[in-house]
Amino acid sequence: MSVTIKSAREIELMREAGRVLAIVHDELGKAIKPGMTTYAIDKLGEEIIRSYGCIPSFLNYEGYPASICVSVNDEVVHGIPSKKRYIKEGDIVSLDAGVIYKGYHSDAARTHAVGEISDEAKKLIEVTKQSFYEGIKFAKEGCYLHQISAAIGDYAESFGYGVVEDLVGHGIGHNLHEDPQIPNFRCRGKGIKLQAGMTLAIEPMINIGTYEVDFLDDGWTCVTGDGSLSAHYENTILITKGEPEILSILK
Ligand code: MF3
Ligand code: CO
Repeated sequence: MSVTIKSAREIELMREAGRVLAIVHDELGKAIKPGMTTYAIDKLGEEIIRSYGCIPSFLNYEGYPASICVSVNDEVVHGIPSKKRYIKEGDIVSLDAGVIYKGYHSDAARTHAVGEISDEAKKLIEVTKQSFYEGIKFAKEGCYLHQISAAIGDYAESFGYGVVEDLVGHGIGHNLHEDPQIPNFRCRGKGIKLQAGMTLAIEPMINIGTYEVDFLDDGWTCVTGDGSLSAHYENTILITKGEPEILSILK
């Protein structure tokens, strides 16, 4: 598969998918409270997605059983919501969600604090979000993909954090995952040259400790190799000739 340039119509549909996803994340952020189950977060997210006439793209994706990936503390991504899993004061919770509107996708993730959290957890969440913004300084026509990757990785590593390498960002559009793959770390070569009309999901996954991760026996949940906390921040963006347009944040 090659990297596609979206038409004006496709971009319009992705804007709507992104707008709905921004609302979903905003609402979930407000709803998160100690004592909630991760299952309740998933159900609420699914309800909001469907209330806008959209489809949750993760549900049944390669067998994934929920609409929202809910990953707590040392869980990096792809945590499976459960009626038995309660979130508590001091936890950090990463929510990853995808929305389909008229056949077009958006994908975004946020890490939230549950009540009061430690200063080190706050800093991890902030740095992870900022690493996305450092990366997209290079998300414009004429730049090379790996400039984004290097900027994300260098920023996160400057705090001594571990940058996850086993999972990466991706192109997005008519499919949830399209070319190119978008690493969050420095790599060999320049990567593709960016062009206006490309749509990308950029998603740093950053650990306080080691960059290494393990996968649990449920076949999905990705956890840090050393049990340290992990944060995730993701948006779907549109490459233009100037500043990128972030499709999955509230405007
Ligand atoms: N958000 C994930 C990604 O970025 C996709 C999760 S797929 C699921 O690529 F199956 F876990 F839902
Ligand atoms: Co993604």
